[in-house]
Amino acid sequence: MGRQYHQVMGPTFHTIIEPFRIHSVEPLRMTTLEERSLAVEQAGYNLFKLRAQDVLIDLLTDSGTGAMSRDQWAAIQHGDESYAGSPSWFRFEAAVKELFPFRHVIPTHQGRAAERILFSVIGGPGKIVPNNTHFDTTRANVEFSGAEARDLVIAEARDSALVHPFKGNMDLGALETLLREKASSIPAVFVTITNNSGGGQPVSLANIRGVSELCRQYAVPFFLDACRFAENAWFIHEREEGQSDRSISDIVREIATLADGMTMSAKKDPFGNIGGWLALNDDELAEKCRSMLILTEGFPTYGGLAGRDLEALAQGLKEAVQPDYLRYRIRSSAYLGEALDAAGVPVVKPIGGHAVYLDAKALLSHLAPLQYPGQALAIALYEVGGIRSCEIGSVMFGRQPDGSERPAAMELVRLAIPRRTYTQSHIDYVIEVVTYVAQNAASLRGYQIVQEPPALRHFTAQFEPIK
Ligand SMILES: Cc1ncc(COP(=O)(O)O)c(C=O)c1O
Repeated sequence: MGRQYHQVMGPTFHTIIEPFRIHSVEPLRMTTLEERSLAVEQAGYNLFKLRAQDVLIDLLTDSGTGAMSRDQWAAIQHGDESYAGSPSWFRFEAAVKELFPFRHVIPTHQGRAAERILFSVIGGPGKIVPNNTHFDTTRANVEFSGAEARDLVIAEARDSALVHPFKGNMDLGALETLLREKASSIPAVFVTITNNSGGGQPVSLANIRGVSELCRQYAVPFFLDACRFAENAWFIHEREEGQSDRSISDIVREIATLADGMTMSAKKDPFGNIGGWLALNDDELAEKCRSMLILTEGFPTYGGLAGRDLEALAQGLKEAVQPDYLRYRIRSSAYLGEALDAAGVPVVKPIGGHAVYLDAKALLSHLAPLQYPGQALAIALYEVGGIRSCEIGSVMFGRQPDGSERPAAMELVRLAIPRRTYTQSHIDYVIEVVTYVAQNAASLRGYQIVQEPPALRHFTAQFEPIK
């Protein structure tokens, strides 16, 4: 390459680096195998019950665990804590509407509060809520209202090894059949972007347009569960024909205009440590939801949030759609997933946006689903390497509303990557530990549940190893 070429184009390098440098650090505490074995036993073999200081690399969730930017911390200083009409609220509302131009924005302390408010108004016995795949809190809030939560993701999504660019897509045929037969019982159709419980897989713009058209045809409202909207839009930008010249914000705005409303956990893509919202166009429904908001969250210009939280989120929303950040973000997840795949560890393919999902059913095939292979794998990753992950399988989804227990469609262990938090060497360590545990997977024992609550049992259940 000549000198002139370098001056005009610059050479191309393949290493995608973190588009930030570190500004303040948090220490990690090293522990021994014996200490971790004791800690997990004392936690009833439930990783949610560990003390975080006993965890080395915390991949339990990407929710609220990301690093805030300098500009977010600076925005916090502008937090105005007026009870009503705070300027922080107006900045937050404008930032939300810039990407999601819904008529009404209702702030909540996190995503499940938005779900609780919405489903307490539109749910109820006899109703059915379709979704590509309900997230655990969404399913629980639908079911708590007495309604049925029905997953209608495409069949390809249930084959963990199959590569499909938009494995989070809704099965439009199944949705149409349901709408044709039961439209009057469907208070809303949901699409979760990206599809967290189905492997963090994206939904294509074409599929979202298809859902929107069907919903309009049958006059049923269409809602987004949009926690990872920016990551989903990045996949659309990269993988969908005709989308690569558009900005991420533009793609996000189109997705929003195809829907009638959204629930949101701002603890994901908008880089919040806390926060969420419900947004919608229907004035009457918004009025009912605001009444519920005042009852359970707070006044409509702060919901469950402090003014400083609203400021951090307004800034975070701007950072979430930056292409340099999204390129790095999606590449970091793929880096971990591809290395594990190359080492022979079964992972959900292709690699999702915010996490890598290990296929515990394939890896621990000596265990029955109700011996909780995902839980066994997650516990081993903690004991061996201090890595905390999350079971997304029969522990999370096995208990049915009628009290019976049924194996989940997949037995996954999610390694969720907090945003802007860990470096490549942390991830290299994770690769080493997971590979080691996978190579010794045949020796892992199953677990039984010895105590559990009636709903969302994975958060607090107690386990024992099966003798
Ligand atoms: C897809 C999806 N929906 C809803 C939620 C609930 O949000 P929150 O944890 O803020 O209540 C989550 C959280 O992980 C999620 O991933």
